[in-house]
Amino acid sequence: MQIIQTISKLRAWRKTAGYVAFVPTMGNLHDGHLALVAEARARGGRVVVSIFVNPLQFGQGEDYLTYPRTFEEDCAKLEAAGVDVVFHPDVAQLYPRVEQAYKVEPPAIQDELCGKFRPGHFRGVATVVSKLFNIVQPDCAMFGKKDYQQLKVISGMVADLDMPIEVVPVDTGRAADGLALSSRNGYLTEGERAEAPRLYRNLSAIKAALEAGERDFVKLTETARADLENHGWRVDYVEIRSADRLEHARPGDRSLVVLAAARLGRPRLIDNLEVTLN
Ligand code: PAJ
Repeated sequence: MQIIQTISKLRAWRKTAGYVAFVPTMGNLHDGHLALVAEARARGGRVVVSIFVNPLQFGQGEDYLTYPRTFEEDCAKLEAAGVDVVFHPDVAQLYPRVEQAYKVEPPAIQDELCGKFRPGHFRGVATVVSKLFNIVQPDCAMFGKKDYQQLKVISGMVADLDMPIEVVPVDTGRAADGLALSSRNGYLTEGERAEAPRLYRNLSAIKAALEAGERDFVKLTETARADLENHGWRVDYVEIRSADRLEHARPGDRSLVVLAAARLGRPRLIDNLEVTLN
């Protein structure tokens, strides 16, 4: 496995690499990330994983400086997983000018759901992913459904900007008790970790109710919000949206996604569940 830190070396490698599957990450890798790597390997070509904590997607007061950086451990996991190249640029490599003046501006969806609580976040994500795509020039790229809105923003960007890249969605990896795996779970205290699966349980309850025919979306989401708040969570949102374009769900919709974001102690946890009705 090669570790490459500069754009020029990555470009030189890429010229002879053939089919490339790409997994962009911010490191601190867990089994959720490794599921993306496995999916990338299954494509049969070369696999590039990037590790870059992107300052552009963190807001004021967010955890950019304290975001867990565990490069050695990450490389050991990636080597064992059969990755060909780890692309690990530093900030000066990706952002040599003080300001990234040209940015990728996602449409109105960037101001909803997580975007409402993290202004500029999806602009930062779209911008860095488009830079990484231009550097790695992959044939396909893996994104987790855990970050459902991010997946939609990237798919939309690739379609609208005619990027010749297949975006491959990968199911959310979970702990045995249902908690979605996340680098930010490491911020949870032991007590909070025991409480954390409540988020998934509430999403599962909404999914079950929808499957049983309930269509009072407000009642469903407000019940979940109240349960979380009664147990010490600070809820940003619980919403039911259309799975394709993340529009507000309507009673006749068949393909839905239930999404939530809430704070438990220090970390802000997000999760979602797709619901297909027949
Ligand atoms: P990061 O949070 O490190 O996640 C990297 C990729 O792993 C994303 O596609 C994310 O959706 C996926 N992922 C994280 N947890 C997962 C889980 N439990 N199950 C399945 N997939 C999971 O997302 C980012 O980094 C950044 O925004 C990035 C795209 C790298 C741009 O900076």
